[in-house]
Amino acid sequence: MAKITKLQHSEWSSRFAFILAATGSAVGLGNIWKFPYIAGENGGGAFVLVYLLCVAIIGIPIMIAETMLGRRGRQSPINTMSTLADEAKAHKNWHYVGWMGIIAGFLILSYYSVIAGWVLSYIFKAFMGSFSGGNVETIGALFTELMASPLQQIVWHTVFLGATLLIVARGVQGGLEKSVRFLMPTLFVLLILLVGYAMTTGYYQQGFDFLFKPDFNQINSDVILVAMGHAFFTLGLGMGAIMVYGSYLPKNISIAKTTLIVAGADTIIALLAGLAIFPLVFANGLETVAGPGLIFQTLPLAFGNMMGGWLFGLLFFILLFFAALSSSISLIEPAIAFLIENKNINRTKACIITGLMIWVLGVIVALSFNVWSDVSLFGKGIFDLVDYLTVNLMLPIGGLCIAIFAGWIMKAKDSEHELEMEKPQFYQLWKVLISYVAPFALIIVLLKGIGVIG
Ligand code: TRP
Repeated sequence: MAKITKLQHSEWSSRFAFILAATGSAVGLGNIWKFPYIAGENGGGAFVLVYLLCVAIIGIPIMIAETMLGRRGRQSPINTMSTLADEAKAHKNWHYVGWMGIIAGFLILSYYSVIAGWVLSYIFKAFMGSFSGGNVETIGALFTELMASPLQQIVWHTVFLGATLLIVARGVQGGLEKSVRFLMPTLFVLLILLVGYAMTTGYYQQGFDFLFKPDFNQINSDVILVAMGHAFFTLGLGMGAIMVYGSYLPKNISIAKTTLIVAGADTIIALLAGLAIFPLVFANGLETVAGPGLIFQTLPLAFGNMMGGWLFGLLFFILLFFAALSSSISLIEPAIAFLIENKNINRTKACIITGLMIWVLGVIVALSFNVWSDVSLFGKGIFDLVDYLTVNLMLPIGGLCIAIFAGWIMKAKDSEHELEMEKPQFYQLWKVLISYVAPFALIIVLLKGIGVIG
């Protein structure tokens, strides 16, 4: 009991509330903005196939493990990891996993907020009717103009980060549960509608084939590294976000079942986004390798030329904004929970401190799209570098540590008790995946990714 009273906030009101929050964390810009553009850059079907495998074999077992560690530790990731290391009589250093997660969360949120700022600016454009009757040139110009303006990007980034912090300052549960409950189903319906529109372009089959007919020659170590990183990113793993959410999870809830639901919903949303976007790419003679601007250069074409497009476009970007918001909250919550627990700072103050740091980082990212677009380190621009470091390296390394801890350090009787799976075979399967398959795959891919093995 003593541990539970240490918690700063109550538990989720129900299993459903946790599913909503975890889905809110998983579904975000990663599904709708990032998945299509990195699929486009990495050979379409080849990437999609590897990504789906990574979600199934590595992502889901690690999501179960991370949630489980959180629920057992019941504190911020840093303290959870040291408590659990104590319990297993392992070295205190495990708490560095929590630290790395907090740093990764900061870095990711710094660019996440800038891209979410683009979404905000597109809500505004949609409302003003800027997409109406648009063609590749006019829609492309809208995006180019936004990219060229540091001021606009910084203002929208500030608005988005401010909104995130306002919600986090009030405690994660209340508002979040309500908004996600309404939001996800509506976003889903809108995506179906967009896929329907994509079918009218005459290029649906081509888009479908691009995503689902893999060209196996395209699979190489870079594609695998990016796909694995994205599996972590899209499920929100490897940095303690889902660990914190797990710490608010009541004891009697099946972690494995809820994880499958969340991962399933997340994957479906991403695939729908791909199916909505690629037919438009081919129909309009655009490039699949357009990069981060891809959705902003394609979807407005659909909204500008479909019946009811003004309303649907407006709704779509508003929903995407909320989806981004419910994700960004989970990126910052581990840091907030830590500051409250260890530094005796109240929620509001913790939000102001972390917010300021992330804001500055975000400004640097925003400038990297214009004023500092020539700055490069290790052959990458600032945005690409931050993205690569966090998503392709820090998250998989965090995931590797979580897998090793859950599979090898924590006592099997504890994890079995904590997971309480319906059948012993399910537990055995998870145990093999988390102890052998995930660590092995992660080590190989990471070594290849950083060029240690060829
Ligand atoms: N999953 C979110 C998305 O796809 C982003 C996100 C939220 C995230 N929490 C995270 C990514 C934790 C990495 C780690 O948009």
